[in-house]
Amino acid sequence: MVELRDRWQSRGSFLLGAIGSAVGLGNLWRFPYVAYKNGGGAFLVPYFVALLTAGIPLLILEYSLGAKMQGSAPKALGKVRSKWEFVGWWALVVGMIISMYYVSIMGMSWDYLFSSFKSVMPWGTSAETAEKFFNEKVLNLSSGPFDIKDIAWGVFIGAIITWVWIFLVIFKGVKNVGRVVLITVPLPWLMLVVLTIRGLTLEGASTGINYYLAPQWEKLFDPSAWLAAYGQIFFSLSLGFGIMIAYASYMSKTSDTTNNAFITAFANSGTEYLAGFSVFSILGYFAVSINADVASVVKGGPGLAFVVYPAALAKLGDIAGWMAPFFSICFFITLITLGIDSAFSIVEAFAAGLEDKFGWGKTKTSAILCVLGLLGSLWFSTTAGLYWLDITDHWISDCFGLAIIGLLECILIGWLWKASKFRQEINSFSDIRIGRWWDICIKFITPAVLIWLLITNIWELIEKPYGGYCSLALFLGGWMVALMAPVIGIILTIIKPKNPRWKMEEG
Ligand code: ALA
Repeated sequence: MVELRDRWQSRGSFLLGAIGSAVGLGNLWRFPYVAYKNGGGAFLVPYFVALLTAGIPLLILEYSLGAKMQGSAPKALGKVRSKWEFVGWWALVVGMIISMYYVSIMGMSWDYLFSSFKSVMPWGTSAETAEKFFNEKVLNLSSGPFDIKDIAWGVFIGAIITWVWIFLVIFKGVKNVGRVVLITVPLPWLMLVVLTIRGLTLEGASTGINYYLAPQWEKLFDPSAWLAAYGQIFFSLSLGFGIMIAYASYMSKTSDTTNNAFITAFANSGTEYLAGFSVFSILGYFAVSINADVASVVKGGPGLAFVVYPAALAKLGDIAGWMAPFFSICFFITLITLGIDSAFSIVEAFAAGLEDKFGWGKTKTSAILCVLGLLGSLWFSTTAGLYWLDITDHWISDCFGLAIIGLLECILIGWLWKASKFRQEINSFSDIRIGRWWDICIKFITPAVLIWLLITNIWELIEKPYGGYCSLALFLGGWMVALMAPVIGIILTIIKPKNPRWKMEEG
């Protein structure tokens, strides 16, 4: 058999690549806020239950499937049951849509990074001035999703830089990815440590940390805290994107997938836990210095990364002038380097799918995807981009994307293909032997929770149309975005090249 498949240089590069994919913006702007909102210290209970019953079992599943089938998501799932190839494409299209807005967020981070090289931060030291700066100067935000006046050029230029960077990382194959992650994975960790040390040594830090960690045990009885934990684990571990399947396919068939899954999952959780300290310590300082309650300054998502946190960093200028630009630069470099390896892993996974099926080279697949991605990011970089980002994130990541794909993976492997048979195979290559608990998670627990998550989210969407700016057109637009992925998935499955590369590889 001819060895056509690209390979990581070592297990270490694979692990860094996979950890880089998992550790992303979600760790910094999603986890601390979700944890605070859903029970503080008590949130760790549903979080670890979700990690052990869904996160790690599915990660083992995705890694093992990729390694065994030596293929991207469509190829791997298609080899289990040929009709299921479309689920793999569906995952890749969902990932691609997510990458389009993910890169526009990185575009915003570039814009802020360039603005940080000043002695006084242009967004000011209060949440109000920072919000005005974000909405008016950075985004030129319009009145609603259909009011697209212009392009937010600063954001779009940042998105162009990011897409060119993604292309340069992936077009030469995973060996190059392995070299890049040697820098882009440790760098944000280092920056987070710097920000955390700064944060923890500030007055007010303990007040902030107390908000982050004080356990509200009653939240354990609130189903929404459990749903939030499962949602966070899914997004954060990059499950359901087809990434982990593609990355593992560049390892040998006999690689130790169980061990790799545990290492990735714990590195990811450790990073998000640490990120919480850097966020809440600095917000604690900010709240104390403006005589406000921490609860009134805490936010998640863009409101955290581009409004309150930058305002808090600007306030450090009261202690010493150099601190505001220095820590702002650290923070935006953290955001960019956290995001980049998640972004290129998504595109790499899609490129692997096209390469496997059509036999196109990496340069061609990467170029096509990066141009398409850039066009998508243009949409999210318009003056109405933030509305669309919010809508797409909700429809695609919470409702009709990752969770459905995770559910279908569980049905395919757990029920149609016999989890126990697959588990025995996985165990024959691994130092850690997984027991029946894995079958129970894949067959019952994970699907049950995902069905519950889906029904709850979809019900909410129908009952309370999304956001304050919902209209029928927008509701239909949301459905369109959601249905686009499976439809493109079916089309890509139906197209049959004469010599699919995955047949050639089998000799
Ligand atoms: N896993 C990536 C993140 O957390 C997508 O941002």
